Amino acid sequence: MTATRRLGALTVAPIGLGCMGLSANYGTPPPRADAITLMRRAVDLGVTMFDTAEIYGPHTNEELVGEALEPVRNQVVIATKFWRAGSERDIRSSVEGSLRRLRTDRIDLLYAHRLGEGLAVEDVAGTVADLAREGKVGAFGLSEVGAATIRRAHAVMPLAAVQNEYSLWARESEGAVFDTVDELGIGFVPWSPLGQGFLTGTVRPGQQFGRGDVRSFFPRFTTDALAANAPLADAVVELAQRVGVTPGQLALAWVLAQRPWIVPIPGTRRIGRLEENVAAATLDVDPEVLGELTSTADRIRVRGARGTGRESYS
Ligand SMILES: NC(=O)c1ccc[n+]([C@@H]2O[C@H](COP(=O)([O-])OP(=O)(O)OC[C@H]3O[C@@H](n4cnc5c(N)ncnc54)[C@H](OP(=O)(O)O)[C@@H]3O)[C@@H](O)[C@H]2O)c1
Repeated sequence: MTATRRLGALTVAPIGLGCMGLSANYGTPPPRADAITLMRRAVDLGVTMFDTAEIYGPHTNEELVGEALEPVRNQVVIATKFWRAGSERDIRSSVEGSLRRLRTDRIDLLYAHRLGEGLAVEDVAGTVADLAREGKVGAFGLSEVGAATIRRAHAVMPLAAVQNEYSLWARESEGAVFDTVDELGIGFVPWSPLGQGFLTGTVRPGQQFGRGDVRSFFPRFTTDALAANAPLADAVVELAQRVGVTPGQLALAWVLAQRPWIVPIPGTRRIGRLEENVAAATLDVDPEVLGELTSTADRIRVRGARGTGRESYS
C-alpha cells in the first residue's frame, strides 16, 4: 500500500486490520502464534492501523495485539476502545488496563466503544482530552454514534475518527454522519466493511454458525434473511468476476471509493485473505462498476436488523 489517508490529525494506510476475530466473536480463534504472525505480516504489507478493544475477549485481544506489535510499536497506530464508561474513573481505569495489555505508554487512537449511562459525551471528551495532555492518548474517536453526538464531543476534544458499521449492506452513516465528519475534518472507520463476511460471497443461505460466532444470533444471518439477502452477495460476486478482482476486494474498493477520509478495518484469521484484502487499496476499479454496485445496493431491501440492532445514526 502506498497512498495514505487522514483520520483527523492521524495519517494511516488506507486499509487497517480489524483484530477482533483473532481472539473472539467468529468462532474458534487461530492459534496465538498464527495470529501474531498474521499481524506482523500485515505490518510488512504496509498496514499501519490495528483495531482492538478492551471488550474483545475481553482483554485477550489487546494482549495479543500488544505482543504482536511490541517490536514495531513506533511504526503503527494502535486503536482501542473502552466500553460504556459511567464515570471519569471508569475511563481512566480502562485506559490503564489497555496500556498495560498493549505493552505501550500511549494509545494512538482511543474510542468510546459505546457511550454509557450517566456520563455525558462532553465529559467523556473532557476526560480523553486530559488523558491526551498527560501523553497517554494520541487521538479521540467515537463508535456507533450519530451527527449530534459527534458535534457535542468534537466541541470539547476534536475527534480524529468515527467508527460505525459501514458497508454495502449497512449504509446508515451516509447522509448526516458523513456530512458532519466531512464538515468537521474527522475521519471515518467502517467496522465490518465486509458485512461480517457476507459480502465476500462465502456465506451462503442455510449456513449455520457455531456458538461463539456472533452471526449465530445476528438477525441478518438467519436462514430466511440469508436467503432474502443473497441477491446482494450474488451481485458483488458477479461484478467482481467481471472486473477480475475478488468479491471481498470489490466490497472494500466500494467502501474506499465513497469518501477520501474512509479507512476500513476488515478482519480475518487467514493470511491469504489478509493479503487479498490489503491489495484492495491499490485496485483501480472502474467507477461505472462501483456505481452499478451502488444502484444494486439501493434496490435491495436488506432483511434483518444490523448486529447492534440500531437502525439509524441520527
Ligand atoms: N466498533 C464496533 O462496535 C465494532 C463492531 C464489530 C467489529 N469492529 C471492528 O471491525 C473489525 C472488522 O469487522 P468484522 O471482523 O466484524 O467484519 P468484516 O471485516 O466485515 O468480516 C470479517 C469476516 O469476513 C471473513 N473474511 C475476511 N476477509 C475475507 C475474504 N477476503 N474472503 C472471504 N471472507 C473473508 C472473515 O473470516 P476469516 O476470519 O475466516 O477470514 C470474517 O468471518 C473487527 O475486527 C473489529 O476490530 C468494531
